[in-house]
Amino acid sequence: MDDMNFYIESMENLPAIAGSNASAREAFERTFFEFIQLQHLYNSAIEVVSTYLTILDNEFQVNFQRNPIHNIESRLKSPQSIIGKLQKKGLPLTPEAARKNLLDMAGIRVTCCYISDIYAIVEMLGRRDDFVLIKSKDYIKKPKESGYRSYHMILSVPVYTSTRKQYAPVEIQIRTIGMDFWASLEHQLKYKPSAAITPEISEELRECAEKIAETDLRMQQIFMQINDIE
Ligand code: GTP
Ligand code: MG
Repeated sequence: MDDMNFYIESMENLPAIAGSNASAREAFERTFFEFIQLQHLYNSAIEVVSTYLTILDNEFQVNFQRNPIHNIESRLKSPQSIIGKLQKKGLPLTPEAARKNLLDMAGIRVTCCYISDIYAIVEMLGRRDDFVLIKSKDYIKKPKESGYRSYHMILSVPVYTSTRKQYAPVEIQIRTIGMDFWASLEHQLKYKPSAAITPEISEELRECAEKIAETDLRMQQIFMQINDIE
């Protein structure tokens, strides 16, 4: 929750920002407090999904003596990047606008061992009757032009706080270790400010993604062969 410090420090600087006008200052303070509450809600939504995924992974270990999940990472969009995205979309810099328009403020990335594990996780997330599927995109069946592969879901999940239940959206990216290897390096290469990505380099990256996808399939087949799965 380091991002909270951004708001808290900003609140300490409020007199300088808002001047001596008391009502303007009050309005600023209210907005900042609402942003802090929003961060807390989205952070809690990440906890809800992460806990459920950990329970599923442990259950798999008990029943099948193996873990389908290799790693779970999460991130809360930084206040700077929330403000940047609202500005880019021409929206007001308010917590309501962020809530309504930014569905990826809370993000979870799940790395699985095999492609079949991805679909098993998707199915189990779908079985939660208190999670609402807002959208899903299967970039494994239909990879992106770049070669990017992953299964994306946006789930609205309930968060119980001291006084009420509130829903918050969480973006979940589910991929194999191989897909994650490619996406991490491609991101590093492409988003470097000085990067000169020619069409040839894009094509080469796409070919690498395809090779990794072939390897993912072969590893899946070996896994099925060893475990006598049809
Ligand atoms: P955003 O405005 O980027 O959130 O796009 P979107 O809401 O249409 O979602 P999309 O499914 O296209 O992508 C969401 C996220 O997936 C991105 O923020 C990245 O983390 C990841 N992603 C999508 N495409 C690529 C890609 O070509 N390369 C890499 N490395 N990551 C990608
Ligand atoms: Mg996004």
